[in-house]
Formats: sequence, structure tokens, C-alpha cells
Amino acid sequence: MTGRVRDAIYALRKARLGLERRRLDYGAESRERADRLADVLPASAADLREYEREYAALEWFHDEYADRVAEIHEAGVATDTTHWRDGITLYVVCRALGVETAVETGVLFGSFDAHVLAAMAENGGGTLHAVDLPGGPPGPFEYGHLIPDRCRDRWVLHQGDARAVLPELLERVGPVDLFLHDSDHRLPHMRFEYETAVSHLEPGGVLSSHDVRLSRLFDRFTDANGLRSCVVCDTGIARVPPSSRRD
Ligand SMILES: C[S@@+](CC[C@H](N)C(=O)[O-])C[C@H]1O[C@@H](n2cnc3c(N)ncnc32)[C@H](O)[C@@H]1O
Repeated sequence: MTGRVRDAIYALRKARLGLERRRLDYGAESRERADRLADVLPASAADLREYEREYAALEWFHDEYADRVAEIHEAGVATDTTHWRDGITLYVVCRALGVETAVETGVLFGSFDAHVLAAMAENGGGTLHAVDLPGGPPGPFEYGHLIPDRCRDRWVLHQGDARAVLPELLERVGPVDLFLHDSDHRLPHMRFEYETAVSHLEPGGVLSSHDVRLSRLFDRFTDANGLRSCVVCDTGIARVPPSSRRD
């Protein structure tokens, strides 16, 4: 298939996803977060709801995050920032699993990064390795602008195409407790990242991905690899069985 045909298919999928999102009841999705995650994680829905409440009460995080969101909105460049309702899902996962080593692709302003790092701060340890292309986000900002200052020493930014960076990075820092995809959502790239990451996950580790409603890829991939999974809002969460390596 040529690149132009792939891009046209991707544009169609994005347009369809835009329509689907308008119909999706994000309030109901968020209310079901704990129940859906409890089906995948080694924690009860009650415990997971407690992490949601903990997040809601995290004043040191919300004050700084809200100020920085406002700065980005005022600059008029916030188009592709991941919504905080998806960030909460990652916060809960990282708290429930006590995630120590995480690798993520696609930083932009760092909404996901901020949430993973906030959970690591509450866990009392951990490192997030984040990959994005050379350059930076639009406007007068650096990658990861949303990350609160107190979390920054746990964050390592790797600039380069994930295709080039990811295999060596995962080999070096893995096995990891969490992999999160949020970079190029065209299917060949998503598939490449899932396939590269899955063999570097700890037993019981999590493969997560944003924008999984673009296609059936996440469901198909997790089914084919024997991972239990769920989707909350726009984020897919899948867990490697605790007793088996995926390699
Ligand atoms: C949707 S944004 C990420 C949003 C971010 N995760 C957040 O929480 O707000 C997509 C990002 O992926 C990056 N990206 C696209 N293709 C990439 C690639 N091949 N390798 C690494 N990063 C890539 C873009 O530069 C952009 O910053």
C-alpha cells in the first residue's frame, strides 16, 4: 500500500473517530473507569475508586497543571493535548501497580506524562522515559510543559523517531512496568510500537494506548497476544499475564 493511500485511510478513520467521540458519553465512561480497570488489574473497583478520589484531592498537581493548561490555551495551540480524563486512567493504573519504569511515545505538552509522573510521585519512586520527534510542540513551549516542577527529576526525554529510538531504549531500560503509545496513530506505526513494546513488558506489566477507537488494532493485538484488556474513554489498557514473559 502506498503512503498516500495509508494517509487517506488514516484521514477517514480520524473523521469517523471525530463523529464517534461526539456520541460517546464520556461521563458514563469515567464513572465506569474503576469497574473496567478492575477487570484487568490486580485491584478491586473500590481500591481503584480510592485512587480516583486521591487524584481529585491532589492540590499540588491540579494548581500547577491548571495554570499551565491556561498558558497553552491562551497561546491558542492546545489542539492535540490529551484530555485529563485519559490522564486519570493512567494515574490510577500507575498507582494500582506501583509502576516504577515506564516508557511512553508522543509527549507534546505532556498531559499523560504529568499524570504518570504524579502517580510516581505519590508512589515515592519511578522513572518515565518519554520519546518524541526532534523539535518541540507549537508555540513558545518545550515538550512536557504540563509536567509539574516537583515531578521533573523522574522524567527523561529522548528526542527522535520512535522507530529509531524505541528498540534500543526498551532493550536498555526494560523490562518495563508500563508502555504507553500516543505518537503516530497510523496503523503500521501503532502496530510497530505495540509489537516492539510487548516483549519488553514485565510479567503483569501494562500495554496502554491512546486513540484505540481509531481502529480494531488494539483489541486484535491484545487478543492475539493473550492480554486482558479494557477501554476507558479513549485509552486502552491491557495487562500481560503475571506469570509469563511475552518473549
Ligand atoms: C497526540 S500528540 C501526544 C499527546 C500527548 N501524549 C499528551 O499527553 O498530551 C502526538 C505526539 O506524537 C509525536 N510523534 C508523532 N510521530 C512520532 C514518531 N514517529 N516518533 C515519536 N513521536 C512522534 C508528535 O510530535 C506529537 O508530539
